[in-house]
Amino acid sequence: ESAERKNEAKNYSEVMSTLPKVKGLRGNDFYLYQRFWYAPFSLEGLMSVQEHFNPQSTDIFLASFPKTGTTWLKALTFAILTRSRLSGSTTSSLLTKMPHDCVLFLEFQLAQNPGNRDSAIPLISTHVPYSCLPKSIISSSCKIIYICRDAKDSFVSLWYFVAKLQRSNNVEPLPLEEVFELFCNGIANYGPYWDHVLGYWRASLEFPEKILFLTYEEMMKDTAAHATKLAEFMGCSFTLEEEEEGEVQKIISMCSFEKLSNLEVNKNGKRRLDTSIPIQNSIYFRRGKRGDWENHLTPEMGARLDDIMEQKLKGSGLKL
Ligand code: A3P
Repeated sequence: ESAERKNEAKNYSEVMSTLPKVKGLRGNDFYLYQRFWYAPFSLEGLMSVQEHFNPQSTDIFLASFPKTGTTWLKALTFAILTRSRLSGSTTSSLLTKMPHDCVLFLEFQLAQNPGNRDSAIPLISTHVPYSCLPKSIISSSCKIIYICRDAKDSFVSLWYFVAKLQRSNNVEPLPLEEVFELFCNGIANYGPYWDHVLGYWRASLEFPEKILFLTYEEMMKDTAAHATKLAEFMGCSFTLEEEEEGEVQKIISMCSFEKLSNLEVNKNGKRRLDTSIPIQNSIYFRRGKRGDWENHLTPEMGARLDDIMEQKLKGSGLKL
């Protein structure tokens, strides 16, 4: 099997060598594949799942562009879905495992080894744009929950994330202004950001019972209403009894930024993102606020990104 895998990797690098590329955020090349930009490790995983992946009909996919609230969405959906086993050990795994180890990524851990998944938990996450998802997912009845976020906050979050990753690899990060320029030109892993958002937005309009479209800002504003909506959408609504017992609030508190970011596993634990050195779990928890971009971008940069988003989303019915 490992020889097969090596062969496959060789084929993928052959495909990659034919694709348009640019110098990306991490100083390595980004490749343009099916109208989106990818870092090599994401693209290899994507090509592999496009070819091999088959979902279970009960799978629920958590989709997002990086740094738009993936970790929070994983925690919430995992906690909601496994709450009936609360007395057992499953829900408490959020207390000892970081959310990314509770819900695995399609194009990373599952691409490397489909056997990695816990088939009792039907959640799988992905950063893959809607139009690039494996056909087996699109044609299935699987539900998809998409989260997105203000572009300025997503960008700032992304810059800090990448800069921390690079520093931990002893690489000097690119200046924020340079990464901003790339981002405004659509260049980021899984970018352009606006096309990522639009793909899921349009699909959610077309298949509302299949795709739930959420924003980080709305979830922050009324987390309880969204937890209820998530439960309904996943087919495990809160009972009246649960609501009276404060179950919704318990889950929200357990998944809050304050709670999760202060857990030992998320403060001092480490994990592997790809084949490079292990990275700190704490990198996934920075500030967890709306509007933090103002502390890092000039008003001109903010206005520029707003203009781009407005122009790109024009006519779609979506405002971010
Ligand atoms: P900031 O960098 O703005 O703080 P992702 O999970 O998609 O990688 O996104 C990371 C962003 O979500 C970071 O934003 C991070 O701090 C924030 N975040 C992580 N856990 C959160 C939680 N439980 N509630 C709200 N925001 C959270």
